[in-house]
Amino acid sequence: MLVEKNVPLQPYNTFRIVARAHTLIRVKSEADVLAVLADAELGPAPKFVLGGGSNIVLTGDVKPVVLKVEITGRRLVGDTPRAWIVEVGGGESWHETVRWTLEQGWPGLENMALIPGTVGAAPVQNIGAYGVELQDRFESLDAIDLQTGQAFTLNAAQCAFGYRDSVFKHAAAPAHEALGRPAGLGLAGRALITRVRLRLPKPWKPVLGYLDLERKMAETGNHQPTAQQIFDWICDIRRAKLPDPAVIGNAGSFFKNPTVTPEQCADIIARDPKIVHYQLDDGTVKLAAGWLIDACGWKGKSIGQAGVYEKQALVLVNRGGGESGATGGEVMTLAKAIQTSVYERFGIRLEPEPVVV
Ligand code: EPU
Repeated sequence: MLVEKNVPLQPYNTFRIVARAHTLIRVKSEADVLAVLADAELGPAPKFVLGGGSNIVLTGDVKPVVLKVEITGRRLVGDTPRAWIVEVGGGESWHETVRWTLEQGWPGLENMALIPGTVGAAPVQNIGAYGVELQDRFESLDAIDLQTGQAFTLNAAQCAFGYRDSVFKHAAAPAHEALGRPAGLGLAGRALITRVRLRLPKPWKPVLGYLDLERKMAETGNHQPTAQQIFDWICDIRRAKLPDPAVIGNAGSFFKNPTVTPEQCADIIARDPKIVHYQLDDGTVKLAAGWLIDACGWKGKSIGQAGVYEKQALVLVNRGGGESGATGGEVMTLAKAIQTSVYERFGIRLEPEPVVV
């Protein structure tokens, strides 16, 4: 186990924010995690699990011990008449994994092509795009409890997936003996996801209901695309509207799309008839946060080196490079200013999507 000190984190976060880890350890196996936990100094210290760094905002140097997950490996562990089950190390790139499954002839992940980050981080926020979420292709995962060193496996129900949400985003609620309430199941900051098993259902069925995909079908005249064609279309669609983190620092969508009651939505429509909204099965209405931010005139605006992307107002970007780029503080100041103006105009509180460290 190699313990690195004072490590620059700029290469390890897609916002390209300058910050350092006081201590960083590259975790390449389950045994590495156990070695850290058994260490007299590192064992009891607070820890921060880092995946691809594509969903975090660093607001300063990271004092907890950074465990950078670099566990690799991809293999087929099940092949039944109903599904292929693929097991992937938490440190593998998500996008390369999507590409690899298609090459093997196991379709099902194509709508989630080009999402930055690692496989181990995918369940944390239940990544999703173009009509498919991780939870739709999830079998189970292995993790290690960083407090006890215990390895455990969770199925989809135990992960408590929601829209950009899971058990890994919630702190454990303390037991409340007086009220007879057991401790809550939150695992935020407590679990390191080592391996994820994905379930790719057979027979493969394309998911084509999303407006951008319908447009591609109309443009090309191809209404029965293969999984590989859908993968290529998704890559085109994302490249056209989302900034490539290798070129412009960003963490994808900065806010979740909010849900409101039909009454609230009707009220907003009465004032802003063009608002983009989608009826959900549970009777609530989802609003496009990008539209709300855009309507408040934020597209292309900046505070310091932190800006609102020109082609998609839901994405905040780092306009600077190297040492002179945006700080986490600038990003959060911009985010707060956006939240205030959306609240003042629409009465809606936008909730940030990335984890603020
Ligand atoms: N819109 C505007 N102005 C903008 C941005 C968007 O008017 O500046 C409108 C669009 O015209 C469209 C609607 O808002 O009618 C929704 O936009 P889009 O289809 O781009 O999707 P989104 O709701 O902004 C979500 C996810 C993305 C995911 C896409 C496609 C969230 C927070 N974001 O974005 O996920 O790729 O749908 O499924 O749910 C991410 O989480 O990092 C991410 C990129």
